Amino acid sequence: MTELLISLRRILDESIDTIVSVCERRNEDFPHLDVPAHPSEFSPQGIRNDPEVAQAIKLGVAAASQLVAALQSPIQAIANLCFLATIPSNIAASERVHVPEIIRNSGDKGMHVTEIVKYNGANVDKLERILRHLATHHIFREVSPRVFAHNMLSSLLDTGKDYKTIIDNPENKYDNTNGLCAFAAMLSDELSKAYPHTADVLADPSIADSQELNETTLQKALNMKHTLWQYLDLPENAFRGRRFNIAMRGISALQPSGTILGLYDWDALPERATIVDVGSGLGHVSLEIAAARPDFRFILEDRPSVVAHAKEYWSQHAPIAMTNAHFLGLDFLHPQPKLPYTPDVFFLRYILHNQPDNYATMLLGHLRKVATEYTKLIIIDFVVEYVCPVPEDSEDAIPGDPSPAAPSPLLTNFGVAGAYPYNMDMVMLSYLNAKERTIGAWRDLLFVSGWKLITVKRDPADRTGWPLIVSEPILSTN
Ligand SMILES: C[S@@+](CC[C@H](N)C(=O)[O-])C[C@H]1O[C@@H](n2cnc3c(N)ncnc32)[C@H](O)[C@@H]1O
Repeated sequence: MTELLISLRRILDESIDTIVSVCERRNEDFPHLDVPAHPSEFSPQGIRNDPEVAQAIKLGVAAASQLVAALQSPIQAIANLCFLATIPSNIAASERVHVPEIIRNSGDKGMHVTEIVKYNGANVDKLERILRHLATHHIFREVSPRVFAHNMLSSLLDTGKDYKTIIDNPENKYDNTNGLCAFAAMLSDELSKAYPHTADVLADPSIADSQELNETTLQKALNMKHTLWQYLDLPENAFRGRRFNIAMRGISALQPSGTILGLYDWDALPERATIVDVGSGLGHVSLEIAAARPDFRFILEDRPSVVAHAKEYWSQHAPIAMTNAHFLGLDFLHPQPKLPYTPDVFFLRYILHNQPDNYATMLLGHLRKVATEYTKLIIIDFVVEYVCPVPEDSEDAIPGDPSPAAPSPLLTNFGVAGAYPYNMDMVMLSYLNAKERTIGAWRDLLFVSGWKLITVKRDPADRTGWPLIVSEPILSTN
């Protein structure tokens, strides 16, 4: 057993040595956990986004988290894991009463909890304990007894807006923000309410095998029959609906910027090509592509309420791109309407992971019906890997760009350092009966819907990020 500890320590040492040497070479310090996140975190220039550093971080985090599991007494480890649900609920609580905005201007010296509650009226004892619990998990700092300040993680919960502006207009709290706060707030609010009911769904014979969008843990948690999408459209959830759309901008920050442009040869498409952004949300990806190829035409398809928000968003953020954009409010589980142009690309980011297999087949089948032999299907969603080695020549190996496994004794998928797809899979299971898919599941899904998987493209600097999955129509002559 000490052999395992020594191997993990070696990986940790090597990864920190690499980071220190890159910092020295760049003559830069590594960002301190006690300091609010610097905007460079979200740009390719940020030190964490340096490919060498990104790889060292992945190895270091994988080794450190495996070390925690290996070192701790098992009872302490399992108890702490069972308590993890307290973190999102306390993130949601602190965010709901706007602590991140209230304490911002107090900077490093922090704000006493009795001062914080003068703004938001929260119960002082409860809020103090919630913030101390979060500080224990490195979200906020308790800089002196009962005095709390931001650190790097809590700073992402700050919209950057003035407290009074939020109180005057709570529905628009997340508008014109980078979406990170919206993303964290969404994950820790309606989504985290659903997970605790997974066991109840598994044990309920009336819905255990369901693939319906409204027979999930979310309906158990909120005691309703609405799907997530219908729930977000309820008048009383207007702020949650807007927050969801803006959160999709925040989620983009998890990938190095420019990844989508780099992963596909958009210049190989003809002049004035038509990109149909299926389930576009506000069209964050289309806007990124439009900035590089202003000649392209974009058709944004989403639920009518979202398309209305998308139009508002484009007219504010990219009025010029509006001239090449068409907005279609529809239900993409119905046949495609007559499109204004022949589609060169159907683009689906984070769409199929929201659909159980039956509905995903329906959606892809509708797209296949209106595709020409030249239409490409480009999907951005995870390809879930096994937590064990896969032989290169097996049908479980992922075609396209290689994705090196983590070295032994780390888990091959980097464990906690690569946990994002597996966490997302549980989100999909919980609130939509949907899933993240393995390569085999992708191949089968595409095949039964009339598409052939061609390749999977990855950003080598970001193995745990979303790959781009390229498919072509199966022709009757194939
Ligand atoms: C996870 S979001 C992704 C948004 C966008 N593709 C992006 O990456 O920013 C999924 C989107 O699918 C849309 N959607 C879900 N079911 C739909 C349906 N039946 N018809 C049309 N749009 C739908 C939602 O409104 C939401 O905007």
